[in-house]
Amino acid sequence: MGPFRFHILVCTQQKPEGVTSCMANGAGTVFDSMEREVQALGLSGEVQVTSSGCLGLCGEGPMVVVYPDGVWYRRVQRSDVAEIVASHLRDGRPVDRLAWKDAAAIRAMSVEHGERFRSARAERERTGVLPERLDQMIRAYMPSRCLLTALELDIFTAVGEGASAGQVGALIKADARAVEMLLNALVALGLLLKEGGVYRNTAESARFFAEGSQDSQRRGLLHSANIWHRWSTMTEAIRRGTRVPMARADSPEWTVNFIAAMQRNAKDRAPLVVKALGRGGVRRILDLGGGSGAYSIAFAKADAEVRCEILDVPEVVPLTERYVSDAGVASQVSLRAGDMLRDDFGTGYDLIMLNAICHMFSAEQNQDIFRRARKALAPNGRLVVQDFILNADKTGPQQAALFSLNMLVGTNVGASYSEPEYTEWMKGAGFGEVLRINLPGPSDLLVGDTGPESTQAR
Ligand SMILES: C[S@@+](CC[C@H](N)C(=O)[O-])C[C@H]1O[C@@H](n2cnc3c(N)ncnc32)[C@H](O)[C@@H]1O
Ligand code: FES
Repeated sequence: MGPFRFHILVCTQQKPEGVTSCMANGAGTVFDSMEREVQALGLSGEVQVTSSGCLGLCGEGPMVVVYPDGVWYRRVQRSDVAEIVASHLRDGRPVDRLAWKDAAAIRAMSVEHGERFRSARAERERTGVLPERLDQMIRAYMPSRCLLTALELDIFTAVGEGASAGQVGALIKADARAVEMLLNALVALGLLLKEGGVYRNTAESARFFAEGSQDSQRRGLLHSANIWHRWSTMTEAIRRGTRVPMARADSPEWTVNFIAAMQRNAKDRAPLVVKALGRGGVRRILDLGGGSGAYSIAFAKADAEVRCEILDVPEVVPLTERYVSDAGVASQVSLRAGDMLRDDFGTGYDLIMLNAICHMFSAEQNQDIFRRARKALAPNGRLVVQDFILNADKTGPQQAALFSLNMLVGTNVGASYSEPEYTEWMKGAGFGEVLRINLPGPSDLLVGDTGPESTQAR
């Protein structure tokens, strides 16, 4: 017997629009329900649910295969899942009405599909058609732009509990014909529903994109809409070697959205960072460019003895103040308006944090910050860099390589840097050990230790 009593394959192959596939027939919800139902019946330890690529039976999908029994279910709908899980996986009785028992027909259809697929691929290669993967990469801006415009126009809030295109247009003060085109595209993208001329939010859109919902991320996501404008200047930025000035950047609204985006990224990561760094020996923290204050807030909440100072630019400090006081830790977290490139840091800190900071600055600026941080730390103090960290040849991870361009289009001198660069800068600033701590998600920690020697004596 294998490690699991049953192994379930649910075909979730995506195919181009208009081509028959399990996903087009609802395999996504079948897969979700299968996982939920298996868990609900307490079978997670015995049943492994896996999404599979095309099984060559697309016209009969969604396909679900149960091993080791070798039962092939076809045209499975979400409403069938509870029965398959209870009857087959729990009670050992396959669901006859859904099982496709004609093994010869299954084999013939699958083999024929494989031959057709291979000859179509050979034909595409022969005629020089752009591969689907490249074509999708080229057109990826279309869905992205629709969603960002919908967020900018606050479409999901306007749709509310249900509205016609005319009502949405009137609410957001936009052209009704154009609004209808956008709403229809959002339906096509699975972000809205439409029935009899009335548009409604999907559960996800209502939760994450509409204002007023507890989990609304619209403000933070509007930062991506701002960044989108910057990315459209990339060709020119590459020629110049730096960002192209833009009137809309750095407005008060831009700053509010930017800090909301920082908070969105940081609030779930902050407790992980506190855990990874540990609270032992940490009493005084300097949080350079603290933004929404998420990391100081997490340290303060974890330990009532900890005191944090956040240094950020004057436009941001009032926003930070609100996040800190909403978190109820104002007595432990103080704020300083200034410029980390020029201001004196002070002395005696146990921890200095540079969360998502170094990518804004040049190599020389970072080295200067590291040297001044070294002097500001107490014996056994630590400097923490959290960032997208490139590998030595700077070609990956992909998010770090792409983020480097985000800095090209958005800053004067910023970039993503590699682990060897950060390590060299920390060592050059006088840090002894440099430790890498990997975190879930795209950014990791590099921690430089001062060791027991007193900094004041240096
Ligand atoms: C990418 S955000 C990171 C915010 C926060 N550390 C986090 O990880 O959520 C960069 C922060 O650095 C601040 N900042 C940028 N330049 C600065 C400077 N010269 N001095 C102080 N703060 C600065 C920005 O205002 C912003 O809050
Ligand atoms: S897409 Fe599912 S079998 Fe082909």
